[in-house]
Amino acid sequence: MPIYNSMMNNKSVPLLIQGGHIIDPSQSIDQLGDLLIVEGKIMQLGGTIIASEAKQSQVIDATGLIVSPGFIDIHCHLREPGFEDKETIATGTKAAAIGGFATVCCMANTNPPLDNRDAVDWVKRKAGKDGFVNVLPIGCITRGREGREICDMTELAEAGAIAFSDDGDPVRNSQVMRRAMDYSRDLGVPVIDHCEDKTLSNGGVINEGWISAKSGLKGIPAAAEEIMVARDLALAKLTRAKLHIAHVSTCGSVELVRQAKEKGISVTAEVTPHHLTLTEERIMGRGWGENSDVIASGAKQSQYDTSAKVNPPLRAREDIECLIQELKDGVIDAIATDHAPHTLADKNCSLDLAAFGISGFETALGCLMALVHKGKISLTMLISKLTYEPAKTIGKDSELGTLKAGAPANITIFDPNREWVVDSSNFASKGKNTPYDGYQFKGKVMATVVNGRIAYIDDSLVIGRGLR
Ligand code: DOR
Repeated sequence: MPIYNSMMNNKSVPLLIQGGHIIDPSQSIDQLGDLLIVEGKIMQLGGTIIASEAKQSQVIDATGLIVSPGFIDIHCHLREPGFEDKETIATGTKAAAIGGFATVCCMANTNPPLDNRDAVDWVKRKAGKDGFVNVLPIGCITRGREGREICDMTELAEAGAIAFSDDGDPVRNSQVMRRAMDYSRDLGVPVIDHCEDKTLSNGGVINEGWISAKSGLKGIPAAAEEIMVARDLALAKLTRAKLHIAHVSTCGSVELVRQAKEKGISVTAEVTPHHLTLTEERIMGRGWGENSDVIASGAKQSQYDTSAKVNPPLRAREDIECLIQELKDGVIDAIATDHAPHTLADKNCSLDLAAFGISGFETALGCLMALVHKGKISLTMLISKLTYEPAKTIGKDSELGTLKAGAPANITIFDPNREWVVDSSNFASKGKNTPYDGYQFKGKVMATVVNGRIAYIDDSLVIGRGLR
């Protein structure tokens, strides 16, 4: 059984992470050595840290393990308040810690939505009480997420919203989006854009492609995403706001982002682990639609699988190839899970009725490491896309996503070679909705340290090696 306990070590006792392979892209560090944490902050990094320091410390033996800045997930759904049957801040952040995420940014599509100061304050307080990891709330763009009237964005920013988004829904009205971007620019807080033209996607359940043509299932064309990406890049140019495109999924979208970046428009983009590793065929059942260069589950099943229903939908193989290429080229800045937990009832129904979304915290590293093992991206790049780069997109790179001396001690320790099999029934998340159930992954999170405290540690680090 894994161990997660935010009270396990006392912040006032120094923590020494010994003998790990430290990779910190924010400082171009890639070396073997120790890491000392004192009073919740990074004190010293590299080399062998002197025994006298170690003697008074709690020690984690990280021999053979990667030690990186704590992962940051800039896009997740914690569902609280309002949808506690799907997830709570307690269960969601426990799942995040198991997934190596020391910091998560939670979306505003709760009930009530995070469209005012009190709601943001409430989430911060609840996260302070129940949370296993740092929680940074995202405020709505429009009141009630209804797309009609912009929120008091100044108030939301003052309350601590780190970005604005109506994620789950687009802002259909261009004038409203323009005004929101004007405020976003003045406040220096980015807009995170859910790009979807609902008049094109309306009623669609999967990608518009050969599966939708053959099966008669209603498709969502790539253009539904690309039209909105194009519109909002034009608005970002007009307003000079900082725009972040959520869950890009098509070649066309990343091409538009590339062109915009070349023209100096202030835009960043994220991609999810599932859009990098699964194709539209996965909806047909297990064994289908795996980016077989990267992952394969073995036996094929042929039954529509609602666990692969997600918005934007899983796309075609060419799209995956573009996404990987543009991740490498820096057009896509960050990897974000879009952790979207749902109840069994939300998913145990026909494909048409099933909710969109994948529970992503606990499988992210495992499936992403397949890209590294297959030589598609380097380990350093993967870490950068989970740490320094997402920190930059939300303007927090001086304190998050780095192991710089003096920074809060948020650290992820993982074994790049440890094999394990996904079993959603063991998820800490209430959302068991994963298309990766039963898949064998190579690469596992072993410990997550949040502000100097161990939020999660694999029992083998405690029992096998003896957390001292
Ligand atoms: O698949 C999705 N699920 N995409 C979204 O944009 C929203 C999310 C949710 O909230 O369930």
